[in-house]
Amino acid sequence: MESFIYQYPVKNYFGEGALEQALAAELPFMGAKVMLAYGGGSIKRTGLYDEVVRLLTEAGKEIVEFAGIMPNPTYEKVQEGAKIAREHEVDAILAVGGGSVFDCCKIVSAQAKLDEDIHEYEHEQGKMPTEFIPLACVVTLSGTGAEQNNGGVITDEVRKVKGPFIGALPAWAALDPAYTLTVPSAQFMSGAFDSLSHCMETYFGTPRERCVSDDINFAVQRNIIRNMRAVAADENDLHARSELVYDSAMGENGVLKIGKVGDFQCHMIQHQYGAYTHTNHGLGLGIIHPHLYRHLAPAAPEQFARWAVEVWGVDPAGKDDLAVALEGIDALAAFIKEMGMPTTFAEFESDASDGTLRAVADTAVLTAGCAKKLTPDEIFEILVECR
Ligand code: NZQ
Ligand code: ZN
Repeated sequence: MESFIYQYPVKNYFGEGALEQALAAELPFMGAKVMLAYGGGSIKRTGLYDEVVRLLTEAGKEIVEFAGIMPNPTYEKVQEGAKIAREHEVDAILAVGGGSVFDCCKIVSAQAKLDEDIHEYEHEQGKMPTEFIPLACVVTLSGTGAEQNNGGVITDEVRKVKGPFIGALPAWAALDPAYTLTVPSAQFMSGAFDSLSHCMETYFGTPRERCVSDDINFAVQRNIIRNMRAVAADENDLHARSELVYDSAMGENGVLKIGKVGDFQCHMIQHQYGAYTHTNHGLGLGIIHPHLYRHLAPAAPEQFARWAVEVWGVDPAGKDDLAVALEGIDALAAFIKEMGMPTTFAEFESDASDGTLRAVADTAVLTAGCAKKLTPDEIFEILVECR
């Protein structure tokens, strides 16, 4: 195991009535002016907006709105949010939505307190923000686990980079699985697969010897697979959805990462592909993962074989590690198909021209925990296989 310091500061309110319970307990500490941040309007269609406004108003809060946060939030949107927060001098941000709303608000929270441009501050001067507008998250779509950490993935359309920023760590999160019932099935599955990807990318990091974090991780992966199948069979299965909402949190609350350096190479490729194509995160991961893993397994056959046995139930008898590993990757690919997710960029109807794939390959970050250091040419090869 790597040495570690672990402390977990996000307070989670989980289950039916979580929002009301959280607001009753937390609003007294959130100041007079609350910025209510949300996406493209699903919260208005589901009635959640009215409920949140009612609870905030009853608590005597002044509401400042920050609406229209798009999937794969842009740097421009962050600047818009920071301007609103500054102009109105908001005391706290209540972010209601999925990963995109949370990510945008985490960085808004930091940018609003900074005089410098946050891109220059973090990525050019190498500094980390230390002051934030307090942030809380209400989960309406799970998968990213973004309510559990302080990283925000932002698309910079000018620089053509979709990459991480450090922002506020949410003080608390409300996770009521029933809120996810209105999420379109493909979107919900995209989120659930994203959680599985987080677990896999954490497991496939270093050190490669089995550790307690890996054993917990295998259990979470099996749980995600079982419950994705349950939701595929019955999209109103609230028990299965509840499990997946918690799996999503488990993927990003740090527990599985204790003593590990994650891989996250698939994420780096998908993020850059997203920078060029503005495509869905979880579905993009599903296309890339099997191809990437076929390239990586020969570099770490034992680690891949263990995962194949523990997560996919591959029988190792009479086979070498690489054969077992490849059977596991085939099982992953078959599962993605079974869940009705796209398996090629063609099915995804996304740009897969040579020029785009080459640009993605040349700009994707190479990660430290990856089984082997890929070259841009090999990433290009992997992306071509995804066509
Ligand atoms: O915008 P609205 O109208 O609200 O609709 C949203 C959006 O179109 C809809 N939705 C959300 N809750 C709903 C709902 N529709 C009906 N009923 C509900 N209850 O879902 C659509 C997608 O939302 P989005 O927030 O974009 O999805 P997701 O949660 O998958 O977030 C994706 C973003 O998170 C980043 C991704 O890169 C991507 O930008 N990630 C953030 C991570 C983090 N901070 O830890 C980790 C991840 O690896 C990921 O990179
Ligand atoms: Zn992800």
